[in-house]
Amino acid sequence: MSTIIVDLGNRSYSIHIRNGILSQSGRILRALNLSGDVVIVSSKLILSLHGHKLVSSLNRSGLSVETVVIQDEERHKSLATVERIYRQLSLLRANRKTVIVAFGGGVVGDVAGFAAASYLRGLPYVQVPTTLLAQIDSAIGGKTGVNLPSGKNLVGAFYQPRAVIADPMLLSTLPQREFCSGLYEAIKYGVIRSRPLFQLIDQKHSRLPHREKTSLEEMIVECARIKSEVVSQDETESELRMILNYGHTLGHAIESATHYERFTHGEAIGHGMILANLLAQQLLRLPSSEAEHINDCIRRLSRLPSLKILRWNQIFRHMLTDKKFVDRHLRFVLPRHVGKVEIVKDVPQLAVEQVLRTYLHAQP
Ligand SMILES: NC(=O)c1ccc[n+]([C@@H]2O[C@H](COP(=O)([O-])OP(=O)(O)OC[C@H]3O[C@@H](n4cnc5c(N)ncnc54)[C@H](O)[C@@H]3O)[C@@H](O)[C@H]2O)c1
Ligand SMILES: [Zn+2]
Repeated sequence: MSTIIVDLGNRSYSIHIRNGILSQSGRILRALNLSGDVVIVSSKLILSLHGHKLVSSLNRSGLSVETVVIQDEERHKSLATVERIYRQLSLLRANRKTVIVAFGGGVVGDVAGFAAASYLRGLPYVQVPTTLLAQIDSAIGGKTGVNLPSGKNLVGAFYQPRAVIADPMLLSTLPQREFCSGLYEAIKYGVIRSRPLFQLIDQKHSRLPHREKTSLEEMIVECARIKSEVVSQDETESELRMILNYGHTLGHAIESATHYERFTHGEAIGHGMILANLLAQQLLRLPSSEAEHINDCIRRLSRLPSLKILRWNQIFRHMLTDKKFVDRHLRFVLPRHVGKVEIVKDVPQLAVEQVLRTYLHAQP
């Protein structure tokens, strides 16, 4: 088993990663002195696929378990869903010792985490991520929150879990498209911080989508290690944590310009990373051989849905209204080479426009 520590003083916690670790959940909670009643927040589908293992592990450790079922489509990542959870917690007479277990993908994790952060001014919670994206990214680092009709993740809190329990076996039921969506984020970690990780994905990518057990676990461990290292150094994203936004500047704009309907998050980031590489190449910060190598790895993973339906200025406009652009500086995370990125402030607008135009023109 790999255990990775997110080092945040008295709010430090462990990420436990191993095939089959789900059945150790009860033991892990007990070891943390989390002995209050457990409320699992999850979706109907995830509970029906994997709930029995989690519940029986918690019961075996003598923990009493209730479940709160929510809908986990992006449009339900809302205050209405949070209120639903509050009401259920109140009916269940939750108290400050009640432990919330967020059992699902990034949507469940963000919503349940935010409910935990705010109900009774904070209940302990544990993340048990069930998608690849959640295991390597969203369950780690304490960003919780929901969307408003006017924008994504506009309401939220930094609130760290007490543990993350990531069982790669849960991914066996994940639809292929969602699995690939997580792989794009894994490529992101390789490019920003680790050539060996990038090579692992690049060389084994044709097997990873078939979820070869050992390499998959190895990859999840490496991604989680990078995320926890970055979060440990910069919990609230004052500088270093921004590198995790590689591919996200234009990726988020693509997602919102298409109303979160055409692309999964990872697919939008796939396009966003290619665009960032083209931009870095144009600004003479990234050798073209390196840019082509990364773009090739992204393209071989799966066919990204075409961007043909968008005009360059639609993407550009959405980029400017993103909450990360309040100061109006065109700031991008751009690679120098695989394993190293830099935060570039004041990227010329014309360069972004040119790259978008060329890329959209070449879309199938
Ligand atoms: N908090 C953070 O730091 C952070 C980081 C990245 C992304 N996010 C957020 O994460 C969300 C996306 O998360 P996601 O990619 O995990 O998608 P998701 O939560 O929408 O889940 C995708 C789909 O997979 C299904 N599913 C989940 N686990 C499954 C399993 N084991 N087997 C079969 N089906 C399963 C879900 O029911 C859902 O339909 C976005 O809202 C994004 O904003 C948060
Ligand atoms: Zn992301």
